[in-house]
Amino acid sequence: MAIIQFPKNFKWGTATASYQIEGAAFKDGRGLSIWDTFSHTAGKVLNGDNGDVACDSYHRYEEDIELMKELGIDLYRFSVSWPRIFPNGMGEVNKKGLEFYHKFVDKLIENGIEPMCTLYHWDLPEVLQEKGGWANRETIDAFVHYAELMFKEFNGKIKLWITLNEPWCISFLSNYIGAHAPGNRDLQLAVQISHHLLVAHGKTVRKFRDISIDGKIGIAPNTTWIEPFSSREEDIEACRRENAYFIEWFMDPLFKGEYPQFMVEWFKRKDVEMQMNPEDMQIVQEPIDFLGINYYTGHLARFKENEGLFDSEFVEMGYERTDIGWPVYPEGFFKVLTYISGRYGNIPIYITENGSCYNEEPQNGVVADEGRIKYLKQHLTALSRSIESGVNIKGYLTWSLLDNFEWAEGYSKRFGIVHVNFRTLERTKKNSYYWYKQAISNNYYIY
Ligand code: NOJ
Repeated sequence: MAIIQFPKNFKWGTATASYQIEGAAFKDGRGLSIWDTFSHTAGKVLNGDNGDVACDSYHRYEEDIELMKELGIDLYRFSVSWPRIFPNGMGEVNKKGLEFYHKFVDKLIENGIEPMCTLYHWDLPEVLQEKGGWANRETIDAFVHYAELMFKEFNGKIKLWITLNEPWCISFLSNYIGAHAPGNRDLQLAVQISHHLLVAHGKTVRKFRDISIDGKIGIAPNTTWIEPFSSREEDIEACRRENAYFIEWFMDPLFKGEYPQFMVEWFKRKDVEMQMNPEDMQIVQEPIDFLGINYYTGHLARFKENEGLFDSEFVEMGYERTDIGWPVYPEGFFKVLTYISGRYGNIPIYITENGSCYNEEPQNGVVADEGRIKYLKQHLTALSRSIESGVNIKGYLTWSLLDNFEWAEGYSKRFGIVHVNFRTLERTKKNSYYWYKQAISNNYYIY
């Protein structure tokens, strides 16, 4: 048994995203997003689910904040629905949208919870998609315009900003694999979009500096850790490509101002080449204040000729899997954090997401999600080891406060520490909620 103790001033939190929890999809002048269109298209989301109502947090935010307050978190990460602010992507501002976020943020602050705001967690205004979405450079300017309005509007209230959530998902998962909105299957398009996203991020950071906003700004890429099956060179090389797909492809441009050359070459072999403006890479590497890291799972992989995008295949690791089928691999969390801080300098890091899917239902008012507690302990222990190793971790936000709309999986996959009954919208604290609450109040736990 050991006491896993966290540093003084360590920040604890939970995370959510607008389309996954808000509901009120057609209320108070909100415009449509690509997720409205996608989820209302037959066959895209499991069971035909959509975010029309979700957790109804748009109306129940006070109840949600009560849950946060009792939990004792320092930070709450949420995202703003761009089409609530600009129903047409740009142009006229929807005052009611701004009012909602003001009420919400004020209430957080009143309750001693610091807001961490993600500007883009995947709900692109539909009208912008109709003009090509992230493949069109005009979307970059529309995004910076929206970000600028948010910065000015919330200056002094929101001090922690995240430009983009999981650029790999926005580009590759949504435009190459096609599992998320808008559902394209085109590698050239996805690679081009990954570049536009990074430019949009860099321009937004520049804007933030230019208008002297009081606070800090970063980005939240998704990470994973892919371990070679053997020490054969070809297995190691295959894993190098797999890891770079998530890590170096996005982070080398951010911190070094260049794409990893071996990946550029690899994409070339697939007939993919990016279009860039000469000043782009300078913009992309505009310095950020912190890095957000999302981590859930890892894999073991080996070389296999002509398999997938990278001539590689995953090998069963024999690890436990959560109810979404993802291997539980806390060692990968440690490895990815030490790798990133070693490669990119000791930038301050917030764990902007980490959590697990377990689908337990309430029984006599109790949700015995012991798997989630175990997952939390394992990952927080890996995190604590990374802190001991010198990684500059500022805080940890678990995904998620509430069970919510899990994108293409609809409501079938539960990640919350609070259970939501999607028929009655009733919230029930799970055992993991009580465990997390105790860990937060002690700033340690026993493992
Ligand atoms: C990452 C995404 O940011 C979030 O929206 C999603 O629900 C979780 N991963 C779980 O898949």
